[in-house]
Order: sequence, then C-alpha cells, then structure tokens
Amino acid sequence: MVGVLLLLLLLPFLLYIAAPQIRSMLSSGVCTSTIQLPGKVAVVTGANTGIGKETAKELARRGARVYLACRDVQKGELVAREIQMMTGNQQVLVRKLDLADTKSIRAFAKRFLEEEKHLHILINNAGVMMCPYSKTADGFEMHMGVNHLGHFLLTHLLLEKLKESAPSRVVNVSSLAHHLGRIHFHNLQGEKFYQSGLAYCHSKLANILFTQELARRLKGSGITVYSVHPGTVNSELVRHSALMRWIWWIFSFFIKTPQQGAQTSLYCALTEGLEVLSGNHFSDCHVAWVSAQARNETVARRLWDVSCDLLGIPVDWLMMAAGPKRSLK
Ligand SMILES: NC(=O)c1ccc[n+]([C@@H]2O[C@H](COP(=O)([O-])OP(=O)(O)OC[C@H]3O[C@@H](n4cnc5c(N)ncnc54)[C@H](OP(=O)(O)O)[C@@H]3O)[C@@H](O)[C@H]2O)c1
Repeated sequence: MVGVLLLLLLLPFLLYIAAPQIRSMLSSGVCTSTIQLPGKVAVVTGANTGIGKETAKELARRGARVYLACRDVQKGELVAREIQMMTGNQQVLVRKLDLADTKSIRAFAKRFLEEEKHLHILINNAGVMMCPYSKTADGFEMHMGVNHLGHFLLTHLLLEKLKESAPSRVVNVSSLAHHLGRIHFHNLQGEKFYQSGLAYCHSKLANILFTQELARRLKGSGITVYSVHPGTVNSELVRHSALMRWIWWIFSFFIKTPQQGAQTSLYCALTEGLEVLSGNHFSDCHVAWVSAQARNETVARRLWDVSCDLLGIPVDWLMMAAGPKRSLK
C-alpha cells in the first residue's frame, strides 16, 4: 500500500524526468535532406510564430531568400531579425499578408510578383483553430476563409511564378483533424450550423482536397504539391479555446516543439525525388493515410469550382490537360 502511494507521489516527477524521451518517441520524423538553397526563393505564411517560424528559419539557414508573410508586420520584423541573427542570412524579408482579407492577399501577391523573379517554395502554413463564429472581410467563415480560401487564392495568384521557377513545390499544412471534417456544400460558411472545433476540421479537410486537385491539374508542369500533418505541436494555435490551452499546457512536456513540428513541411519542401508523390499527404516525414472524403475526387473537384466561384476566379484557370469544362450548377 505504502509502495503504491509512493509510486503515485513520484509519478509526476518520473514523468517530468522521462519527458524528453517520451517527446522524442512521439515525434519521429526528421527532415534529413542536406540540400542547400542559395538562389532559391521561399514564401512561408504565418511565419511569425510556431511551426511557420521554425520552417522559415530552416529555409533561411540553408541560404534561401525567405519571405515571412504575416498579418502582423511588427511581429514579423522581430522574428526576421531573430532569424537573421541566428542563421547569418540577411535575406529574410517581411511582407504584410492577412489571409482573412482577399484585398490583402492580392496586394501581397502584386508586390511579390513585382519584386521577385522566382518562387521555388510556397509553404501555406498559417492557420486558425476554434475561433468563435466570425467572418473574414469577404464574408467567409473564418476557418474556411483563412485556412482554405485564403491559401487557395494566394496559390492561384503566385502560380505563374511557381511555373516559371520549376521545379518548384507547394506545401499545404493540414492536420490529422481532417478525419473529423466534412465538406458541407450547403453550409460552407457555417450559417446553418456551426461548431468551432468541427469548422477547423472541415477547413483542414479542404486543405487536403485542394492539394490533391492542384497536384492532378499540375501534373507535368514541374510544380508538385503536398499536404502535411505536422503532429501535435506546442504552439499558439490553441489560443481561442481555454480548454485546449489547458490540455496543451498539461501535455506540453510531451508534445512536439515547433521545431519538431516543422520537420514534415521541410521534408516535403526539400527532399529530393519526392516529385512522384505529388498530391500525397505526409505525417512524420512519411506518406500518411487520409479519410475517405479526403480521397473523393468528385468532392475535390466540386470544392475547387465552388472556391473559384467564391473568390471570383475563372473556374478553368487551371484546367487539366484533357479535363472537361464544368458548370457550377
Ligand atoms: N499545433 C498543432 O498541434 C497543429 C496540429 C495540426 C496542424 N497544425 C497546423 O499547423 C499550422 C501552423 O500552426 P501553429 O501550430 O504554428 O499555430 P500558431 O502558432 O497559432 O501559428 C499560426 C500562424 O498563422 C498566422 N495567422 C493566423 N491567421 C492569419 C491570417 N488571417 N493571415 C495571416 N496569417 C494568419 C498567425 O499569425 P498571428 O500570430 O498574427 O496570429 C501565426 O503566424 C496551421 O495551419 C495549423 O492548422 C498545427
């Protein structure tokens, strides 16, 4: 009896001691590519904190010119200076990008296209989770608007530059949470029913469907596309939910650090020979299983068309070689 009590008392201490080992067991998957990136240009959205910051830092360490696309330029500048100091790479630049406003996305793209000749790596990383019901400047539900539609428009606007710079890559940061997602076309903006946790899952499913459809349409173009689950990562993502903040705090010793969380994005952006796996979903630097709806090509095509319609983009901006023209009806 005394032994059991003693064990219970010691348990938190033992867990604390074992935390680094447990964390490394849970965070397998390291980008081992040694590729260097002098002369390469990368854009990372949401790069002022969390996984995006660590992704940008590693790309800068390898010599790329890295654009931190952030909604808060001041936060971005502080991080750019930190990355410059840590990596010795001065070509870390901050540009304003608010994915909750299509005007801001268009302004970002316009400036980028004017000032840059190339774009080799686009990391669509920024994300929001469990926001109370709210809408973007264009009236889209916040999760769908920022996580999916914002990145859809950004990719559309930067695509010619990616094509000119081929071989080039797009990495869409999704989540394991997509398994709980569904694309409800009759309620895409959450106006009929809304649950903040599920809204996040739906948007992360949209990231995977977009990845697959984009990869299909870009076959043979020299641009390849990947979606990733970064793992469960100790970041600011849970800021909108007190319960999730509490759970993250309790488990913070065991879950991935942002640097560990960046590994799969880096793996997909950098690993040589990965082109044949364009369109796949990755977790811990391996191809990962996705939900049934995430594999549904009909849903992916319809989401593509609806996204174009919402954003005012011609549906056929990127037709598959032999793809038929479709109407939205
Ligand atoms: N953390 C996890 O366990 C986990 C698990 C699965 C997937 N993910 C995915 O990983 C990605 C990165 O998340 P994280 O964990 O690093 O979270 P984070 O620390 O909260 O970082 C999110 C980034 O997105 C930016 N952002 C939010 N709304 C934006 C907007 N409207 N326009 C431009 N940028 C915006 C944030 O900028 P501000 O700082 O200005 O808000 C921040 O830089 C997300 O796509 C997330 O869904 C994370």
